[in-house]
Amino acid sequence: MEQYLNMAVKEVITKFPEVGKILEEYEIGCVPCGVGSCLLKDVVEIHNLPDEEEQGLMARIAREIYPGLEITVPRVERKGKNRSKELKYSPPMKKLVDEHVLIKRWIALIPQVLEAFNAESTEGAQLVLEGVNFIRSYADRFHHAKEEDILFKYFDENSELLKTMLEDHVKGRGHAKAISEAVEKKDREGIVEHLMAYRELLTEHIKKEDEILYPWMDRNLSVTQVGELFSRFIEVDEATDRKGIERCESFVLEVEKKFQKEVIK
Ligand SMILES: [Fe+2]
Ligand SMILES: [Fe+2]
Repeated sequence: MEQYLNMAVKEVITKFPEVGKILEEYEIGCVPCGVGSCLLKDVVEIHNLPDEEEQGLMARIAREIYPGLEITVPRVERKGKNRSKELKYSPPMKKLVDEHVLIKRWIALIPQVLEAFNAESTEGAQLVLEGVNFIRSYADRFHHAKEEDILFKYFDENSELLKTMLEDHVKGRGHAKAISEAVEKKDREGIVEHLMAYRELLTEHIKKEDEILYPWMDRNLSVTQVGELFSRFIEVDEATDRKGIERCESFVLEVEKKFQKEVIK
């Protein structure tokens, strides 16, 4: 069993497709993740299931890999005592979770924006470009920079988990570039394709961070590190042009009002 715990989850799933289905039943989304280079034991540790659930999961995986054999299921080592499913965050992590809320409000509006979008109209193009500005200024420069320049430095950036998160940030930048190029060319299909792909990417990315990455990081940070992180985040907030952030907040609010009004009409 040790041998499979130390194997990339994708390889395990390729050998034993049922394992992917079992993981999904425990809301561990390794099959849709597509990267799958995290080790099976890390996947189990990161998700921090309550004891009983973890034992149940491991027993089912063992039965799948060694049908008919009596296998002793190893307990996956982890730091921290909090094994409940309830999500609690330290103050710096809470700050990042709160920043996700504004990003989620914008990506929730994307289908409505696209439905009403006319590639030929200046107003339509302007709205999409402001959306790209939001992605670049708020989601990327303000929020992702806190993760990349500060938070992730406390961990091994070469770990599969962080590499996956960083790849998502890079993909997001690629979509933002592709959207603004498509606006220039009045290419409606390109705009729809990349805005929807960005929406899907960020929806999954934020879910992974809120539910898995940040709680795992919290379990692995010392009290001193948590305090240091919080003050460094506050320094970033104070050094950021407040007007730029307010513009992003009012952009989301304006789009919400515009579409709510249209629904009421
Ligand atoms: Fe991120
Ligand atoms: Fe994030």
